[in-house]
Amino acid sequence: LKTERDQQRTIMLVTAEHYRDTLTRKPEGAAARSYLQEREVDPETSAAYGLGFASERRDTLIQLLKAKELPLELAEQLGIIRKGERGWYDLLHNRLIFPIRDKQGQPIGFAGRVLDSSLPKYINSPESPLYRKSSVLFGVDLALRDIRQSGTAIIVEGYFDHLALYRAGIRNALATCGTALTDGHIGLLKKHAQRVCLLFDGDNAGRKATVRAMELCLEQALPVYVINLPQGEDPDSLLQKHGVEAFNQQVAAAKPAFEQFLHWLLAKTPADSIDQRVRLMDEIIPRFQRIKDPVERDLYLKEICRLLGIDPPSFRRRLAGQRSEQK
Ligand code: CTP
Ligand code: MN
Ligand code: MN
Ligand code: MN
Ligand code: MN
Repeated sequence: LKTERDQQRTIMLVTAEHYRDTLTRKPEGAAARSYLQEREVDPETSAAYGLGFASERRDTLIQLLKAKELPLELAEQLGIIRKGERGWYDLLHNRLIFPIRDKQGQPIGFAGRVLDSSLPKYINSPESPLYRKSSVLFGVDLALRDIRQSGTAIIVEGYFDHLALYRAGIRNALATCGTALTDGHIGLLKKHAQRVCLLFDGDNAGRKATVRAMELCLEQALPVYVINLPQGEDPDSLLQKHGVEAFNQQVAAAKPAFEQFLHWLLAKTPADSIDQRVRLMDEIIPRFQRIKDPVERDLYLKEICRLLGIDPPSFRRRLAGQRSEQK
């Protein structure tokens, strides 16, 4: 007798196979095949990720599940089909499919990307009994071995960034897929990596996500570095434009995240007037307080004071003042 969990696993496997088959073998998959070609995703990479295509029709999964006598209610719980006023329909259609897989490589959710510039660009499976978003990172099945070997987990934002790194032979990456990093993710990272290297997009959203992720890592004493991409680039676009060599130079230039944070901050607000220095201190202190290592704290304290042109005793006084205010 099959348990409900077994049936859910089967539904996800059957669905992933169906999407995969449509992409690789069906006439409906032709547009997606040429889309992948344009983005320089070769068939081996496509196979490694189990990429697929959801065709135009909105009842293909429904038909498939019925034919295999798999319960639609379970597929609904998994977020791959829905029930509307006119009956059941597939969540994803006419989209390139990225299976989201667990450590063992079992599909637990799907993301679908449009083949043109229409919006929304991606539609993602919702949370489900199999897919707990706060503890899953994309690519974990492909990356865990290299993360353990190198000690470093590189974190990117997007599916295509993960693919681009993989193709370039960088196999220790994980993708957040647009969601903020959580403590659950940090827990997972701490279990397998000695350090993380944040490689988010070179835009405001990417920098904001970097600072937030840095805060979580500092809080949990997980050493954290940043690769700072040029404005407007993401790892995929940079690799496409400038190749692996240029990209590896960026990787080699990874800076401790807190140092990069100070750099960004001072580029935005120069420490010219007294007013600006005080404001900078107030931006810096809440993050500085998360640094656990006493030696690191001491070194950063000196660096902050040098950058802001203040003396360490006054910085320490402000630190102490903020701590007592918080009480
Ligand atoms: N994302 C999402 N839903 C959206 C937009 C983005 O879930 N509507 C997630 C996806 O996981 C995406 C990631 O956020 O991969 C980063 O978004 P973005 O940088 O906008 O997309 P790219 O990954 O660069 O996608 P592409 O290169 O295909 O444009
Ligand atoms: Mn982005
Ligand atoms: Mn974007
Ligand atoms: Mn991007
Ligand atoms: Mn991109």
